[in-house]
Amino acid sequence: MPDIAYEQARHGSSIGQPLTRRDGILKVTGAATYAADNRPGGLLHAVVAVSRIARGRVTHLDVAAAKGHPGVVAVMTGANAPKLAQDPDAKDNPFMFRLDLLQSDQVRYAHQPIAVVIAETLEAATEGAELLAPRYAVEPARIGLDVEAPEEPDAVGAGDKARASRGDVEAGLAEAERRIETVYETAAQYHNALEPHAIVAQWDGDRLIVDTPSQGLGMAQMRLAALFGLDPKNILVRSPFLGGGFGSKGLLSGPQVLGVMAAKLVGRPVKLVLRREQMFGPVGHRAETRQTLRLGTDASGALTALDHHTLTATSSFDEFYEPASALSRYLYAAPAVSTGHSGVRVDTGTPLFMRAPGEASGSVALEGAIDEMAEACGLDPLDFRLKNYAEAEPISGRPFSSKALRECYAQGAARFGWDKRAKAPRSMRDSAGRLVGYGVGTALFPALMMQAEARAEIRADGTGTVALGAHDMGQGAWTALAQIAADGLGIDLAQLDFQSGRSDLPNAGIAGGSAHTATAGSAIHSATSAVLAQLAELATGDERSPLYGAGNAGVFARGGRLLRRDDEGRGESFADILARAGRASVSAEGKAAPDPASREAYAMHSHGAVFAEVSVDPDLGQIRVTRLVGAFAAGRIVNPRLVTSQYYGGMIWGVSFALHENAVLDPRSGRVMNANLGEYHVPVNADVPAIEAILVEEHDPHVNPLGIKGVGEIGITGTAGAIANAVYHATGIRVRKTPITLDRLLG
Ligand code: MOS
Repeated sequence: MPDIAYEQARHGSSIGQPLTRRDGILKVTGAATYAADNRPGGLLHAVVAVSRIARGRVTHLDVAAAKGHPGVVAVMTGANAPKLAQDPDAKDNPFMFRLDLLQSDQVRYAHQPIAVVIAETLEAATEGAELLAPRYAVEPARIGLDVEAPEEPDAVGAGDKARASRGDVEAGLAEAERRIETVYETAAQYHNALEPHAIVAQWDGDRLIVDTPSQGLGMAQMRLAALFGLDPKNILVRSPFLGGGFGSKGLLSGPQVLGVMAAKLVGRPVKLVLRREQMFGPVGHRAETRQTLRLGTDASGALTALDHHTLTATSSFDEFYEPASALSRYLYAAPAVSTGHSGVRVDTGTPLFMRAPGEASGSVALEGAIDEMAEACGLDPLDFRLKNYAEAEPISGRPFSSKALRECYAQGAARFGWDKRAKAPRSMRDSAGRLVGYGVGTALFPALMMQAEARAEIRADGTGTVALGAHDMGQGAWTALAQIAADGLGIDLAQLDFQSGRSDLPNAGIAGGSAHTATAGSAIHSATSAVLAQLAELATGDERSPLYGAGNAGVFARGGRLLRRDDEGRGESFADILARAGRASVSAEGKAAPDPASREAYAMHSHGAVFAEVSVDPDLGQIRVTRLVGAFAAGRIVNPRLVTSQYYGGMIWGVSFALHENAVLDPRSGRVMNANLGEYHVPVNADVPAIEAILVEEHDPHVNPLGIKGVGEIGITGTAGAIANAVYHATGIRVRKTPITLDRLLG
């Protein structure tokens, strides 16, 4: 078990500092090059033509008309698309999704790509795509959760169990003093990163260079290698900047691969960028859910049983089931807990990971049900949570660092002023006569670890390099990981050359599951530790060094020097050590992976509590979130400014989840009726309240050597439920369907 106090002594000059983003100036001045900003010589523009029907066949495309357009160079359809080395419908593992790459005339969802038009200009490609005027053999679309009898899937999320339980829930409910059964519904949501999916692809013989936003460079490289029958070494994927990802850029989407196919077809570089409405289909979404919860308590208000079942939808041709019940395996203590999922197949694109997949939807329902149960017991919602929060995972029994969650409840409540909450609903008003409500939601997200590699080097001039194919989708990885790297090497950030965002660097895994800083940071820690060990070897074994005889464990690095742990006055610069050894540099590789023993022994999560204040117009039902306070504990905080910003982003998405986002599908056509940012609502500045994130101190020695947990997804998890509960407290009306819109409140 690593000793955190020791780690902090060694790391501390950069880690913990609230540095601004190192790429911030590049971004605000427009100097940062996003995928679609690349313009290699001879570049052509590709536009996808997408299906207007959700199910059936394409019977005709007017390819001749499109090719007749003076700017059009080629039209790619199933008839002439380059042959692929891998079946796009193959699926070997839960991270491999079936793609629509013109392999047949079948239409499986609206906005499925059915052809690609390649032209000298974007305008010509767009006009060419219009000229295709597709005709279809239409079959009725199957849309909605009641379209067929649900079935239990083999797995949910990324290969998680569909069902898990402990204890006898039916007995627990039967013996309960109080019981509730309640049903919550959440709407389908579509990823709408500022930057749409885009690619610039260039072939040079059997070598391929692609510029495309990626949360998983190594996986993108391997998928392209498999699809095009290439040696992965001959593929370079560059993704220095992403305009957001939220899970939708974790795996290559079909349209990105179509860009590579188009470039191969025409033998010139091709750029393909999705239009906003084309994002509603082929690049994943968060599926709708209908969640049934049954809870029972004894006379004191202690839970006797908790049952959480989720009905959700996947596509007709692939599997991804929103794991919304999984959260109930972790959060509240009850002697009996059961969780399950069932799914139906509908004619939409395949759902995918979207920020806090499972937890985001699941926590709205669970936190609502907990609120209802608290009320049934006549207990304050916060007291009820404190009474029932788990010190061990209810299902596995593994211990949590639950003190942290208690701290989050306490610090959040104090800052928010929870003690001013009137007990009865609909009993608080502001000076304008609007109804005011307070709500709380518990936040929880697993502290995952994945696999990553990194390379580190110290040179004779005292400068260093750390390189790995990590991903910055806006969260600040370039900054946080560089802070870890600089401390790891014991040099100033200004002396560090930090290289990242390319597939030809050591594979840093994925930026997903809120695990990137923990995972890539641990790989960096491993590589930099190995470099320092070599330097220490050179110094401590050399009689001419002031460190002679100190032993590897007896030295540490700071300010470009190795220092004796027992006497910091004695040390030697890296430059001197290398010069005397006649070495230009020392370098090493490092790896990180989850430690199975500690993961078996402990439940690992980030924790939090979110408090929301809303005001509701008593006549019109208009809801405003006026205040949000979140308190989160997530282990070591590498950069408090960036972490705060992640919490803000998550909490704002919580506002969006509770009040705004709603993909409306037409049951007849199967089309998303609001496939644009005019009608698909997300919060704008005016919707975002006074918002505060408290960083609760936590030292977790078990998660990884640096004690880092994730911060990217947890913010959304408590917030939507807190807001829904606040709306109930303000109005006395429990809307069990998100988004909570004024018609649902008035209806
Ligand atoms: Mo996230 S949904 O793991 O990018």
